[in-house]
Amino acid sequence: MKFFIDTANLDQIREAQDLGVLDGVTTNPSLMAKEGITGKANIINHYKAICDIVDGDVSAEVIATDYENIIKEGMELAALHKKIVVKVPMIKDGVKAIKHFSSNGIRTNCTLVFSTGQALLAAKAGATYVSPFIGRLDDISTDGIGLIEDIRLVYDNYNFETQILAASIRHSTHILECARVGADVMTGPLSAILALLKHPLTDSGLAQFLADHAKAAGK
Ligand code: E4P
Repeated sequence: MKFFIDTANLDQIREAQDLGVLDGVTTNPSLMAKEGITGKANIINHYKAICDIVDGDVSAEVIATDYENIIKEGMELAALHKKIVVKVPMIKDGVKAIKHFSSNGIRTNCTLVFSTGQALLAAKAGATYVSPFIGRLDDISTDGIGLIEDIRLVYDNYNFETQILAASIRHSTHILECARVGADVMTGPLSAILALLKHPLTDSGLAQFLADHAKAAGK
């Protein structure tokens, strides 16, 4: 399973990249706003800065919601860097735009997906990635991981190449559940990735090893 980090924070992206397990980055307009990145020029420069840090794909989301402007904005974003994947919302004009982009060799990430039907449409349109938001479904007492499982089944039935990018990850257990049900990618916060490192028996075991080593060396 590929690991993407879901942030526009450059320090966190660098930390995840330095760990050596990062396969890409996803952003959205809320995450850009959280970092105080506003205005077209600043947003473009920020995407370029992210592309300079990571080795993998960088999802950049369009703001437009009508077909013509999604195409215009998406083309501009795709031209910024070969790592850019154009992120398009799951709306009618978005599906049309994804079809246009996929027919013209531009990679897409269909975002704000909350049902298997939406995921099926995204795959039919040729999306490179589909982003089901599992945390937001869990927030309303709906089974987010169950959605990933269902999309996996449907995609495998027809050998769709669209990759399932489990989004809206809240914690390390979500990451493990995504791996168990066969998500192709997960995108989550740095905290969820780093939490995978942690086990109290690792900490106590290491402390004991170091203490025994020091004792044997007469320290
Ligand atoms: C997906 O690409 C989105 O950026 C993201 O995962 C949304 O997560 P949230 O529900 O934590 O905002």
